[in-house]
Amino acid sequence: MIRHRLTEARRVLQPAARLRDQAEALADYLNVGDTVLDVGCGTGRASRVAASVAGAVVGVDLSSQMIAKARELAIGIGNVRFDVGDVDRLPFDDGAFTAVLCSNAFHHYPDPQRAVAEMTRALAPGGRLVVGDACSDLTAARIADRILRLVEPGHVRLYRAAELGAFLQQRSRPGSRPRSRGGRPQAA
Ligand SMILES: C[S@@+](CC[C@H](N)C(=O)[O-])C[C@H]1O[C@@H](n2cnc3c(N)ncnc32)[C@H](O)[C@@H]1O
Repeated sequence: MIRHRLTEARRVLQPAARLRDQAEALADYLNVGDTVLDVGCGTGRASRVAASVAGAVVGVDLSSQMIAKARELAIGIGNVRFDVGDVDRLPFDDGAFTAVLCSNAFHHYPDPQRAVAEMTRALAPGGRLVVGDACSDLTAARIADRILRLVEPGHVRLYRAAELGAFLQQRSRPGSRPRSRGGRPQAA
């Protein structure tokens, strides 16, 4: 039992490496020529990975400090730019992007349904919304979630994989194919 709990805790508490991998995992869903929006881009790692695949990438983040750092780290990459913006009111036209990424940021959004609605609004018909985030399916993750809600400013909550999938499905367009991979990004 103790061994099981330790294994479970290790799986949750090794996120640094897993989150580094996440940018690459999200890029699997991109096509050459995509115009990509990376929401909650932070310092822009997923945006930079996306820029190596896609035609053009815009990273957007609530924090102007994150955007300043993202711009610095992307110097020399010609097809990526960064803007300050809130997922609740994305400063982009309807259908402006063929793919929207959200890497390790969904648990920060106070109104998840609104966030998905906004990200979907920014998608062109036939576009892909790809969300990768930690989930609370494991007991250790639920414990970590409770602690993070107390100690980490901006941490709203982790969701179970099925809840995350349901948010995406509620907004998916007729004919779309929501997909889920355990511990991996979800695409709709
Ligand atoms: C854990 S970081 C993830 C950064 C990056 N996507 C990555 O995978 O490394 C979460 C980011 O979400 C941003 N964020 C939080 N609330 C947001 C909101 N309402 N709108 C846009 N970005 C937000 C934070 O400023 C932070 O940079």
